[in-house]
Amino acid sequence: MMDKKVGVGLIGSQFVSSIHADALKWVHDAEVLAVMSPSAGHAEAFAKAHGIPHHFDALDGILAMPEIDMLVIGAPNHVHCEITLAAAKAGKHIVVEKPLCLNMAEADLMIDACRKAGVKLMYAEELCFTPKYVRLKGLLDEGALGRPVLLKQSEKHDGPHSAHFWDVERSGGGVAMDMGCHAVQFFRWMNGNNPIKSVYAQLSTDVHKDKTKGDDNAIIILEFENGVTAMAEESWSKPGGMDDRAEVHGTEGLAYADVLQGNSIQTYSKKGVGYAVEKAGNTVGWSYTMYEENWNYGFPQEFEHFVDCVKNDREPMVSGEDGRAVLEVIFAA
Ligand SMILES: NC(=O)c1ccc[n+]([C@@H]2O[C@H](COP(=O)([O-])OP(=O)(O)OC[C@H]3O[C@@H](n4cnc5c(N)ncnc54)[C@H](O)[C@@H]3O)[C@@H](O)[C@H]2O)c1
Repeated sequence: MMDKKVGVGLIGSQFVSSIHADALKWVHDAEVLAVMSPSAGHAEAFAKAHGIPHHFDALDGILAMPEIDMLVIGAPNHVHCEITLAAAKAGKHIVVEKPLCLNMAEADLMIDACRKAGVKLMYAEELCFTPKYVRLKGLLDEGALGRPVLLKQSEKHDGPHSAHFWDVERSGGGVAMDMGCHAVQFFRWMNGNNPIKSVYAQLSTDVHKDKTKGDDNAIIILEFENGVTAMAEESWSKPGGMDDRAEVHGTEGLAYADVLQGNSIQTYSKKGVGYAVEKAGNTVGWSYTMYEENWNYGFPQEFEHFVDCVKNDREPMVSGEDGRAVLEVIFAA
C-alpha cells in the first residue's frame, strides 16, 4: 500500500480532461500534480484553472516527475498507444480513455508493455460506475429480473466537438467506435464477461457525409454464448442533447434506465425486488427503483458541508436559527 496520495498527471487539457480534473477533486487519495498538452498555452491555462502545480507541453517533462504515479490519457485516440508505451517505460500506471486505441495490434502492444513494466493499464469505461447502471446491474444480479434475455444500451447526440473524432485516421472509426465501445463494455459487464459468439452491425453515414468518412449511425447486435442478445444503438445525428439509456429484459421482469432523465429505474418484476425505494411496500409488478438514494436525497453532501464548517470555521448554510424559524411557523400552523 502507498503511504502517500497517488500523484496523478493528466494528458490533455480540453473536454474529457476537464471532467478528469473535476472528478479527481472528489478522490481523497489522489493529488493532481501536473498536466501536459502540446497546444501552446493550453496546459498552462488548464493548470491555472484547476490549481494544478505543474504544466508541460511535451511528454518528457511529465514522465520525468518521480512524484507522478499514474497518468490519465485524455488525448485523441491515435496517440493513446504511443503515450501508453512511453508512460509504461517510465514506470507510470495508466488510465486510458475509451476507445483503448486504434486497432488490435496497438491494444496488444499496450497490454504487453504494461505487463512487462509491471504497471496497471486501466480502461476508463465510466458506464461501469454510472450510479444508475450500477443499480441496474444490482437488480439483474439479485435475480429480480430473472435470467437476462436481451440487453440494450444506446448513446446519442448530434456529433462530437473536435476535428479528430471526425477523422477516421485519428479516431479509428465513426460512432460505432466512439460510442459503440461504451455499449460493448456495458454488455460485457452486465453479462458477467460471458464470451461473445457473433457480432452483426448496420453502419451508415446519414447526416455528416461532409465531415467524415466514418459512420454517424450504428446498430450493433451481439450474441453471447449464454444465449443473451445485446443491441446497441449509437447516433451522431440526434439533435437536442445527450441521450444515454439502457434496458434489461429478463425471464422474470424488465428494467428501463435513463441516465439523464428521472431519478429511478422503471422496473417490472414478477417476484419483486429486494428494495426499491423508501416505503415502497410491495414491489411485485411495476416499481420505481432508486439508485444512490442517500446521495439523491443529499445526505452525503449535507455532511460534507457540516464537516467543512467545523474544519474550516465556516458558517453553516442551515443553522439553529433556521431550525427555530421553522418551528415558529409550525406552531403557528
Ligand atoms: N469517457 C467518455 O465519455 C469520453 C468523453 C469524451 C472523450 N473521451 C475520450 O477522451 C479522449 C479525448 O477526447 P476529448 O473529448 O477530450 O478531446 P478534445 O479535443 O476536447 O481534447 C483533446 C486533448 O488532447 C490533446 N492532445 C492532442 N494531441 C496530443 C498528443 N499528441 N499528446 C498529448 N495530448 C494531445 C489536445 O491538446 C487536447 O487538450 C478521446 O479518446 C475520447 O474518445 C471519452
